Amino acid sequence: MLICIPGVLSKDEVRHCRKVMDAVSWVDGRVTAGPQSASVKKNTQLPEGSAAARELGEIVLAALARTPLFVSAAVPLRIFPPLFNRYSEGDFFGTHVDGSIRAIPGTATRIRTDLSVTLFLAEPEEYDGGELVVEDKYGSHEVKLPAGDLVLYPSTSLHHVTPITRGARVASFFWLQSMIRGDNERTLLFDLDQTIQDLTMEKGIEDPACVRLTGIYHNLIRLWAEA
Ligand code: NI
Repeated sequence: MLICIPGVLSKDEVRHCRKVMDAVSWVDGRVTAGPQSASVKKNTQLPEGSAAARELGEIVLAALARTPLFVSAAVPLRIFPPLFNRYSEGDFFGTHVDGSIRAIPGTATRIRTDLSVTLFLAEPEEYDGGELVVEDKYGSHEVKLPAGDLVLYPSTSLHHVTPITRGARVASFFWLQSMIRGDNERTLLFDLDQTIQDLTMEKGIEDPACVRLTGIYHNLIRLWAEA
């Protein structure tokens, strides 16, 4: 399932992130790419673990935690410290699949990349090109979102970023391990959770059918989750 989530960061937070990013130096984006990805990747990144990346990463993680739609869709177990990239004119990222296992730098923790996230930090009007194109069994999906919005998609998908022909595309990107490994199960839980939210709005939190459905949701989590 590919899902777009609006307004994860406020426009003020986006402005702050951009100010911090403009004041520091960037490195070649191939530092976090495996051999196949590196051969098709041309962009720059904030150095992983730098003070700027850490400060902005904390802002992103706090925003994710207060976004119920993200939590419902991702059911995150471990989130990789957010990274930040910039595609300037002529930059692109050819078709690749994200590496399956990532070590969190400076720790003994590894995460399995179940979901990939791009959080846009530039408005669509600031640049031409730079669409994220994700392929799944239903076809290709082109994604270009307002600053502050994110897209979440299965890390199993082939994807690419089209060449920039004007301006610059700035974003945060990262991976996460979900408590629910399979995309099918995770999608069912998301649909069930959203349906329960709708029914609860309509019928009230104490409605017996809503209570039973909430029980089913939690029992499915118990059945499928790695926690
Ligand atoms: Ni990728």
